[in-house]
Order: sequence, then C-alpha cells, then structure tokens
Amino acid sequence: MKIYNLGSLNIDYVYNVKNFVRPGETISSTNYSVFPGGKGLNQSVALSRAGANVLHGGIVGNNSEILTDTLKNSGVDISRLKHIDGASGHAIIQVDKSGQNCILLFGGANQMFDEEYIDSVLYDAEKGDLILLQNEINALDIIFEKANKLGLEIAFNPSPFKENIKALPLHYVKWWLVNEIEGQELTGENEPSKIAEAMINKYPNSNLVLTLGKNGAMFKSKQKEFIQPIFQIPVVDTTAAGDTFTGFLLAAIMDGKSEEDALLFATKASTLAVSRKGASVSIPTLSEVESFK
Ligand code: RIB
Repeated sequence: MKIYNLGSLNIDYVYNVKNFVRPGETISSTNYSVFPGGKGLNQSVALSRAGANVLHGGIVGNNSEILTDTLKNSGVDISRLKHIDGASGHAIIQVDKSGQNCILLFGGANQMFDEEYIDSVLYDAEKGDLILLQNEINALDIIFEKANKLGLEIAFNPSPFKENIKALPLHYVKWWLVNEIEGQELTGENEPSKIAEAMINKYPNSNLVLTLGKNGAMFKSKQKEFIQPIFQIPVVDTTAAGDTFTGFLLAAIMDGKSEEDALLFATKASTLAVSRKGASVSIPTLSEVESFK
C-alpha cells in the first residue's frame, strides 16, 4: 500500500532569539540557520524514515536543491515533483530560549497546484492507498474530491488552520491529526475530551489523534479512546515535532500496528525531534526510535 503526500516544501530561515519580536520592536538573533522544511516535506521525511513507501507530490521554485536533496536522501519518491521558475515556499522561524517557535510563511510554489498536476501525481493511485494532506498548499478542495473518487483513505493534518478548511468535505477524512487549537476551531469546544467527543460525533467513521503538547496525545474513535503521555526530555526546538509525530504514526498504522503501539512509536519519534534543532533535520531514524527507552 502506497502513501501519497501532497504537501508543501519550504526553505526554513531559522533565527534563535531570547524572546519573540513584538510589534514595533527590533531585536538581534543569537544564531541563524537555513534548514529544509515545510509541513509536507517534514511529514514525508518522517514517513520514509519510519519505513513507509511514500511519494511526495509538491512544487518547488528556485534554489530548491536543499528541499529535493533532503527528500531524495531520506528515500522519498520525488519523481513527480514539479519545478517552476519562481520563488520556492519559505518560512521565517523564530525559536526562543524554551524551544518554542513563531512561523511566518510565504507560500510561493506551494500555492501553484492545479488539476492537471494533481492528476499527474495520482494517476496510479489505487483504492485503499493513503493520501496525506496539510493546509500549506492550494487546491485542497480538488484533491479531496479526487481522492474520494479514487477510494483513497484521507489523512488530514489541518495545519495551519485557516477558514478554507471549514468549506472542505471533511466527512471524507479517515485519519485526523489535530492539535488543540485546530480541534477548538473545528468543534468550538475547548477541553480535549470535549473536542474529541465532538469530532467523533461529527465524523463518526474517522479516527482522531489529538496532540496535547506536554499532556501527550489522545486517540479516539467510535470504538476506543486512550491517552499516550509524553517522555520527559530537555526541549531544544519544537519545530516539526508534530510533523514527526504524524509521519511515524501513519507509517506504523500502515504497517498494521495497533493504535496504541502507533501512538507510542510516534511519541518516541517526536520526543527525539524536540531534543534537536531544525525541522526535517531533527527527524530521527527508525533505529533511533526503536532503541529509544
Ligand atoms: O511544522 C513545521 C514547519 O512549518 C516548518 O518546517 C515550516 O516550514 C512550516 O511549514
């Protein structure tokens, strides 16, 4: 079974700061790095490092070798990536002393999806294959309809949350990968257990994974509900922790693991990711996750 991830690729310009810059303020950063990132790219790298067979559909512009090399070197199929003459997607990221981040995005090439390109990526997709989507590319409405028509299972990480999401045919989603803010936006509820209940009432045939930051992650479906706590580790940089979690989780599910084992596996992977700097460069390998205690 194959995984098609149609998602963003961003060049991440990362600035370490004592505190996030405030309106009207000018501050100096203590360190600067350039990393490959984008929620789409990070999740493909995580899937592939976790052992899944993943094809990435995405569009890159100029100076994109850092993005394409990262995917290729991680074992992701990039044969259907599209190259355009224009700006690649990029992100300006501030990381503060506690490892938290603030992200400013420029969509660039990520916003150039059209029907012809989507068809060319999905031309051999078969019923039962998984398609993974985030909210950093355009044309999600077209992709949702095509995926549903092809009988693909849709895994959706509605991040970053924007109003466009509410107009999508969300009842097609089989796997929800949602944080608390996204869960609040989707349901109007604030408390995790209420968010989870409202999601499964609204989308009863789906499986919800609700990430809860330092409180771990909650799984809920019609049949079961449980919480996977986090592992304590000094936090260096939380960028891409959620993407790492998503990739390892879906790889484990596609490999036939139970939801309990998949959440544990994903939690170990994201714990390792927050202990390191950067987005995709912080994503661990399968053997690192397997030997994590
Ligand atoms: O989830 C982290 C990612 O969000 C970064 O790599 C950045 O590019 C933004 O897309």
